[in-house]
Amino acid sequence: MKIGFLDSGLGGLTVLAHAIMHMPGGEFIYYADSDNAPYGSKTPEEVLELVLKGVKKLVGEGAGAVVLACNTATSIAAPTLREIYDIPIIGMEPAVKPAIEISKPLGLRVLVTATPLTCREKKMQDLLKALDGEEVVDLVALPSLVGLAEGFEFSDEEVIPYLMEQFAGMDPAAYGSVVLGCTHFPYFKKQIQGIFKGAVLVDGAEGTIRHLQKHVPVPSRDANALKISYFVSGQPVLDPTQIKKYSELMARVAANCE
Ligand code: DGL
Repeated sequence: MKIGFLDSGLGGLTVLAHAIMHMPGGEFIYYADSDNAPYGSKTPEEVLELVLKGVKKLVGEGAGAVVLACNTATSIAAPTLREIYDIPIIGMEPAVKPAIEISKPLGLRVLVTATPLTCREKKMQDLLKALDGEEVVDLVALPSLVGLAEGFEFSDEEVIPYLMEQFAGMDPAAYGSVVLGCTHFPYFKKQIQGIFKGAVLVDGAEGTIRHLQKHVPVPSRDANALKISYFVSGQPVLDPTQIKKYSELMARVAANCE
């Protein structure tokens, strides 16, 4: 079965990388809505329209299941898509619960990072209402990380000053866990870890792929059978240089998991 992945841009590759680790002979279609990134500073209505268009394309290309490899798209569009389509629509869950479970016994706080839209949306607010009765969670939006990743800019010189500015006034030692609640953020794992040295960084990719595997037939484990086709905002990506860049980003994620 072909499995579709959708993100506003390159963030979803951090999730596809995990899918390939677990399903090395899978057939994947990746839709990067790069012409319309970022989603996190758009209105919910704009994001919904873009995600509906992207998923329509993925289904048209034969996807039998779709992973919304984007926390922002999930919180805005997952319920509507599940009403429209009779195929598994798998969303990203911000890993707030496991993060609280890590920090709480240590008497430490939890930092949740995401896009501005994900931070504001009902899904996040409901989650915090349900899980954060003791108010141990701090929510910080990091929109510029999306632009940096889209521009293939991962250098410490660019990234660390931005992070330091966003975390100014916070005591890193007070945090036991940090949630990466946007699929673009795992590219910056090392830099975030460098600031929150004692904290466990958690993202939703592994959980999402485990959930996906329950809903799709087991693909071949033969890595030679692996097939990935890419689309940018509806247009097929055929340029080998561009495809190589995508593979390099996924290799970066795999290296960060070691
Ligand atoms: N990667 C997306 C997410 O997980 C969206 C980032 C953006 O386009 O603002 O939220």
